[in-house]
Amino acid sequence: MAVLETVVIAFWAMLPAYVPNNVAVLAGGGRPIDGGRTWNEKRLLGDGKTWRGTAVGTAVGAVLALALNAVAGDVGAATGIEDLPTFPPEVVLALPLGAMLGDMTASFLKRRTGRDRGAPFPGVDQLDFVVVSLALAFVVAPGWFLETFTLGVLLVVVIMTPVLHVGTNVAAYWLGLKNEPW
Ligand code: CTP
Ligand code: MG
Repeated sequence: MAVLETVVIAFWAMLPAYVPNNVAVLAGGGRPIDGGRTWNEKRLLGDGKTWRGTAVGTAVGAVLALALNAVAGDVGAATGIEDLPTFPPEVVLALPLGAMLGDMTASFLKRRTGRDRGAPFPGVDQLDFVVVSLALAFVVAPGWFLETFTLGVLLVVVIMTPVLHVGTNVAAYWLGLKNEPW
């Protein structure tokens, strides 16, 4: 299989997991999920994880997955890429929800290790959401997961994700949408 094709498939399959965190930046605000609660004098998650950001991020990611399902046939025919994945219903939810849960897990770990809201956590910041969204997709649809995320696709995801993550966050910072460029 051509490399370009693998990259397109990886990007397509991960879009419902890539978009939620960026949407949360735009939609965030309001009540924090941890309700201000602390553990060992540190916030459980912090003010950066809100109900609204999480709900809107997950919803937009799911709608995007449905939209990709709707156009997969046409895009496949137009590009000649036969293996463009479509997302079964449980995956439509698992990819975006897993991405948000991964981001939340990273915040939990940041707070436990004394990092304040917005502090960088290299490596974790870039891959947290991928690991959890893929894990959740595997749990709810193992057959679909193994068929879609072949070794080649997974390799592309692991290389491409940090690059896209750094790129979009720097862009969001320049645009004044985000307080830090990570
Ligand atoms: N956001 C949100 N809900 C989420 C994730 C993000 O509301 N579940 C919004 C918040 O406004 C947050 C912004 O998106 O401040 C940027 O997200 P992120 O960088 O993940 O949060 P930080 O504020 O940097 O906090 P943390 O150190 O916990 O990552
Ligand atoms: Mg941050």
